[in-house]
Amino acid sequence: MKKIVAIYPGSFDPPTNGHLDLIARGSEIFDELIVAILRNPEKSPLFSVGERRNMLEQLTTDYKNVSVDTFDGLTVDYAAKVNAGAVLRGIRALSDYEYELQMALMNRKLRPQLETVFMMPAEQYSYLSSRLVREVARLGGAVDGLVPEMVEQRLREKLDPAVKLQHARKSKAGK
Ligand code: PNS
Repeated sequence: MKKIVAIYPGSFDPPTNGHLDLIARGSEIFDELIVAILRNPEKSPLFSVGERRNMLEQLTTDYKNVSVDTFDGLTVDYAAKVNAGAVLRGIRALSDYEYELQMALMNRKLRPQLETVFMMPAEQYSYLSSRLVREVARLGGAVDGLVPEMVEQRLREKLDPAVKLQHARKSKAGK
């Protein structure tokens, strides 16, 4: 039987529980799922592509059919390169729909054989976005339950360098 490879493209800055929920769902229906982080030189991200890749790799180790990669250029070209037949995207609220529809139809125009598959994350994540997580974390709000613990820790380290120093000291003292 034909194996279906799907890509899940995005910025993942940072990965949220909503992303992980979608990865779990996608890994159930596709034979192979590649989480593809866009290397976007126009954006100035909070986490570097390397940092995001590292976090996503650690967060998806339990899924044997999920891998993490980075790409630049068109999503459709990357999909062709890895022989993907589908693009997975999450739709939360109605407000996502217009942008996602435009993107899906443009991708279809560019590569008709590539199907976009939309999935809904669990409803408790329907308001969640990386942008809001960055903003809340930057302003000192709690993001527990919205991102995995490891991401929460990395956010703390990123936004408060003193936390990183504390950790380095602790692990040095523990040696
Ligand atoms: O997580 P995001 O930022 O919503 O992901 C957007 C992403 C990466 C899927 C989109 O910007 C994209 O596909 N960029 C690659 C360039 C491209 O193919 N542009 C045309 C899309 S119609």
